[in-house]
Parts: sequence; structure tokens; C-alpha cells
Amino acid sequence: MLTLALAKGRLQETTLARLEQAGIVLPPEQPDSRRLVLNDVRGEYRFLLVKPGDVPIYVEHGIAQAGVCGRDVLLEQEPDVYEPLDLGFGCCRLVVAGFPDMPWREANHLSKLRVATKYPRITQRHFQARATPVEIIPLSGSVELAPVLGLADCIVDIVETGRTLAENGLAVLEDIAPVSARCIVNRAAFHLARHQVTRLLEQLAPPA
Ligand code: PRP
Repeated sequence: MLTLALAKGRLQETTLARLEQAGIVLPPEQPDSRRLVLNDVRGEYRFLLVKPGDVPIYVEHGIAQAGVCGRDVLLEQEPDVYEPLDLGFGCCRLVVAGFPDMPWREANHLSKLRVATKYPRITQRHFQARATPVEIIPLSGSVELAPVLGLADCIVDIVETGRTLAENGLAVLEDIAPVSARCIVNRAAFHLARHQVTRLLEQLAPPA
């Protein structure tokens, strides 16, 4: 049996739908179920439902042989895992965002740009490459509030529809990277369970 760590939240529904399309059927759940470990009906797979940022941890440590999470999580954590498959859903962008009239490109290098984000490492790398000194303000959600309330000059975050930015008077200032859901595989499992992993990747691959 192969164990997969799946990201709860925005990717969960589409991930489960892709599994179902691939013939991997989960037992019907009670609507209010809080179960965090599920087996498919054929007993081929066990699924762990975890926070998106925890998926690479379970996979890297070999508790799960494979997992599904967003590329944003992988860019942030740079885990030591294989990333063999772009699943082609959960598409969004990692961006710098702020007030559209903010003169941030000419940021005064004497005072650091204050950037609120759930992605401190991506933010550090991005602004380091542009030689812009930053003070990173780590937040765990509702990041758009930070510039609105004066906590930060701008944010680094994911944008999908753009609605959260627009409804808070913010706009994309710069693109950092495209993001989509990825299947990741534990390095040892990729070799030791090659047959099962290859079959899983074939099952999950987006339709041509
Ligand atoms: C994400 C992201 C933005 C929002 C973007 O947050 O951090 O806030 O979605 O989506 P949109 O462009 O479609 O409006 P999420 O919903 O994951 O919640 P969080 O803010 O609590 O992290």
C-alpha cells in the first residue's frame, strides 16, 4: 500500500476529483467527517490529509511515499524530494502586491521595504536578487490586511482570481513565479517502490 500526503484546503477538492477520475475511489464520507487518514476502497492507497506546508515534511521523512501540494510550498521549503509531475490544476501566481500608486520600485535603500508574507524565504530570495533590502513580516494568513493597515509596504502572496487584492484596493506590482499543484515523491520510495510510484504518476497525469 502506498501512502500519499494530500494538502487540505484550496487544493483538496480538485485533488480528490483527480484521484476519482483515475479510478482511485475513497469511501463515502459523512459530511462532517474530521478523519485525517483515509484508505481507498481497493486498499491500494492510504491518504493523509495535512496542512499544505506539511506535505513535503511527511514525504521527505518517508512517512508518505508521495504527496500533492502547491509549487509555492516547494519554492518556499525547497524540500529534498523528487517533483516528477505538474498536475495542471490549482494554477495561480506568486506575486508582489501593494497599492497601485506605491513608488516601491524606487524604494529608498536607506529604509528597508517592509514586506508581509506567508513565504519568508521566497521573499528574501526575490528581493536579494534585486538588491533591495527588506524587512520581512511573517504572517500566517489574510496577508492583504498588512498594507491596508500600515503594517507593511507590500506583500508577497499567491493570487488566483485577484478578487482578494481588488476588494482590498491592492494590485499586482510584480510577478515572481507561476504556481500549480505538483506531485512529489520521496527519493528512496522513487526507487524502492518504483512500480507503484510509476503507476500512481500515470494515474494522476493530466489528460493529454
Ligand atoms: C490565498 C492567498 C490570498 C487569496 C488569493 O489565501 O493568500 O489571500 O487566497 O485568492 P484570490 O486571488 O482568488 O482572491 P487563502 O484563501 O489560502 O487563505 P489565507 O489568507 O488564510 O492564507
